[in-house]
Amino acid sequence: MAWRGVIEEYRERIELDAGVEAITLLEGNTPLIEAPRLAATIGFDGRIFLKYEGLNPTCSFKDRGMTVALSAAVARGAKAVICASTGNTSAAAAAYAARAGIRAFVIVPEGNIALGKLSQAVMHGARVLAVRGNFDDAFRVVTGVAEQAQVTVVNSINPLRIQGQKTAAFEVCDVLGRAPDYHFLPVGNAGNITAYWLGYKEYEADGVSDRLPKMMGFQAAGAAPIVIGQQVDDPQTIASAIRIGNPVSWKGAAAARDESGGIIDSVTDRQIIEAYQQLAACEGVFAEPASAASIAGIKKAVSESRVEPGSTAVCTLTGHGLKDPTNAIEVCPEPTKIGPSVEEALQAMGLD
Ligand code: F0G
Repeated sequence: MAWRGVIEEYRERIELDAGVEAITLLEGNTPLIEAPRLAATIGFDGRIFLKYEGLNPTCSFKDRGMTVALSAAVARGAKAVICASTGNTSAAAAAYAARAGIRAFVIVPEGNIALGKLSQAVMHGARVLAVRGNFDDAFRVVTGVAEQAQVTVVNSINPLRIQGQKTAAFEVCDVLGRAPDYHFLPVGNAGNITAYWLGYKEYEADGVSDRLPKMMGFQAAGAAPIVIGQQVDDPQTIASAIRIGNPVSWKGAAAARDESGGIIDSVTDRQIIEAYQQLAACEGVFAEPASAASIAGIKKAVSESRVEPGSTAVCTLTGHGLKDPTNAIEVCPEPTKIGPSVEEALQAMGLD
């Protein structure tokens, strides 16, 4: 049977009122791609799988939570949704609101959202407000507005977002036949690590998986409040998606780490960029810089002998590389310019 989107595929496991009509773009069912060349490159004697969430309808994992949040909002008669976003949440909110025929307002940090994401929000007809400040400022504006206006907040403070996002853990187990031993993922506002942990716990409690993974979350070094144990007032990182100083789901992330026996650590921008290029060049999988924090994370953890040899690890690639063409172009060499001649081409190719 054709894939029906995460609500219909997992309805009995999602806390959504019975009979709510699904507003869906057929999100989910993203590939779990084994990455043997990456494993060999980083010296890991085990199996690495990439959960490629960039292949969702708006090219990030946010679609999983947005289908649930928008379906519930519309069932309750909402006419508008609002979110603060570093880009991907706004793209998903805009698309699902368009699908539902209601309005979307998105508040983004001015100058700090990748081009692809902004183009999605505007194309889907959202009203985009660029706040002079960072994500944390934008989020404060959203909660303030929601107190005074008839708008439904679709940030992950809305528990329905977590309900949708946990389906990624179900899919991983459905493919592997069990949970992995380790699950690596980037951490920004911390909703996703919270959601995966919830999903894994539910499958284990119901006997669908015989084990729980260790949750291995990675923040960018310049935006690592959970790692340093205090809010960061001026978060900085090239991975704009996770440039967050005061995560909404901080407690959920800490619980996932502690209950699973995992870690939340940081990786530098240099490590993120290196992993970003390495992943694309050695496995043919293009993910945005924030997503590469999971790859930088497994590299770091392997180098520190924190990953058991022979084990199975899943790395979530949260967003597609095309979301952020600017960073890709900046970190790679420019195309070699040649005239329309075979000789010049051969010479430039180094094959003459
Ligand atoms: N990776 C990408 C590509 C993201 O867009 C985000 C979050 C994360 C990782 C971190 O996930 O917040 O659940 O810990 N993006 C949010 C947004 C903040 O507004 O799009 P998280």
